[in-house]
Amino acid sequence: MAKQLTSEQKRAIIAACREDIVFFAKHIAGSDLTPKQIEFATKWMANRRISFKGGVGFGKTHVMAVVILWALFCLNNVQVTIFGPGEGQIKDGIWKEIGNIWGAMDAEWKDLFDYQATRISRRDSPTGAFAAFRLASKDNLESARGIHMRNNFVFVDEASGVPDEIFHVLGNIFSDVNPKLCLISNPARKSGYFFETWENPELSQIWTHVHGKMADNPRLTPEAFREMAISYGGKGTHDYQINVEGEFPLEEEGGVIPAPLVQAAIDNEDAVAPADAPIVWGLDPNGGGRDRSVIAKRQDNVVREVKDFPNLDAVQLAQAVFDEYHGSTRKPVEICVDANGPGYGVYVMLSNMGLPVKKVMVQASPTRDPQIYTRLRDQLWWECRKWFEDGNVRIPNHQDLIKELTFPTYDRDAGKIKVEDKKSIRKRGRKSPDFADALCLTFATNANQHTGKWAWSKPIEYDVRHYE
Ligand SMILES: Nc1ncnc2c1ncn2[C@@H]1O[C@H](COP(=O)(O)OP(=O)(O)OP(=O)(O)O)[C@@H](O)[C@H]1O
Ligand SMILES: [Mg+2]
Repeated sequence: MAKQLTSEQKRAIIAACREDIVFFAKHIAGSDLTPKQIEFATKWMANRRISFKGGVGFGKTHVMAVVILWALFCLNNVQVTIFGPGEGQIKDGIWKEIGNIWGAMDAEWKDLFDYQATRISRRDSPTGAFAAFRLASKDNLESARGIHMRNNFVFVDEASGVPDEIFHVLGNIFSDVNPKLCLISNPARKSGYFFETWENPELSQIWTHVHGKMADNPRLTPEAFREMAISYGGKGTHDYQINVEGEFPLEEEGGVIPAPLVQAAIDNEDAVAPADAPIVWGLDPNGGGRDRSVIAKRQDNVVREVKDFPNLDAVQLAQAVFDEYHGSTRKPVEICVDANGPGYGVYVMLSNMGLPVKKVMVQASPTRDPQIYTRLRDQLWWECRKWFEDGNVRIPNHQDLIKELTFPTYDRDAGKIKVEDKKSIRKRGRKSPDFADALCLTFATNANQHTGKWAWSKPIEYDVRHYE
């Protein structure tokens, strides 16, 4: 047994832990945190509202237990309250993990705490430093009221399954000096408060996000990862999204572009673009407001890349696209720019800079099949759907892109296809589908359509030196 520490030495160690949660994890809790766990712990310490979504088994519950013990170890006037949808799930999950870490501590640290079935406290301050758990159910709203302490830390485990009313009541803690509300969950449900902290355009801005994937578990061998990924059903499927990607599942019904088609295209290695097929870019610009500006790069049946440019005004964006163009070894034959509203200036600037831009007015009449479409936007989305329907296509496993592609719905209005507009998408609580729009814009070109149906027919002026 190690030599007893003096109380002065102990105080020095506690002070060091207070500044450095990774140090605490290693030397007191006996745990080497993974990079993702460190990201969570660091963000938790620096913020008041933290929403942590993730796939299975990479250590969410473990790092939550470490953080809770850190708070009890280092701070005074601290109350930690853990909410969960079921008592069994809390006891077998977070409470057991706290008990395991506590049980393995060196005796001199372990003895600081009194660990009970529903409560853990520091012996020198049983009512001034303690954690307890409560059931989060609609019948038990009172349990969420009146929780006040200087350092008032609330965790909601499996937050996807907790009723919204609980979160509204928990808002009361923010009148305290140092409150923190932390939600942790698998993203199992596409509605409810936890979902909104990620997807609602307004609410998501006040939450600090941490996102983990099954692959963030360094103990998982590539072989074990591969087997688990297969067992969850493959990229883009409901279970794969939740458990492997740690992402909310895709919309499964009513979308312009059916989810199974998108799933089949994600990282589809069988789809190879003809080497001489031209590349087309779609640019969805934003003049400096809330939306991102996005470029999608498509070569026939393969989307090579989607890339966003956040928070640029029109001039900065034009410069960024100019640089992107000249920095590309494989240059596009055409850049289709959404020139409505703020995009118009970007289009004009790019045109003056000599880039091969095409002006696309998505709100104007369709350029093909006016008997089927009302506006060009409907046409472009529907042609994107047809591109997926033809199969043998590939898109990157980019979560914003795949979620946005499957989200908008459509109607048939007097026989014409009408794709859900951005206003309605926002009303349903989602951000503007900039990535999907950028991909749809690539279908505005005359240069390059799908090999099968719309083979490239005229010669292109192409700078072959830029082609490897
Ligand atoms: N940094 C670490 N050091 C040692 N063990 C760890 C570490 N992180 C997690 N573990 C262990 O790995 C196992 C899985 O971790 P944990 O239960 O925290 O995962 P989870 O993400 O909450 O999983 P689930 O999605 O199933 O809820 C647990 O036994 C836990 O003790
Ligand atoms: Mg867990």
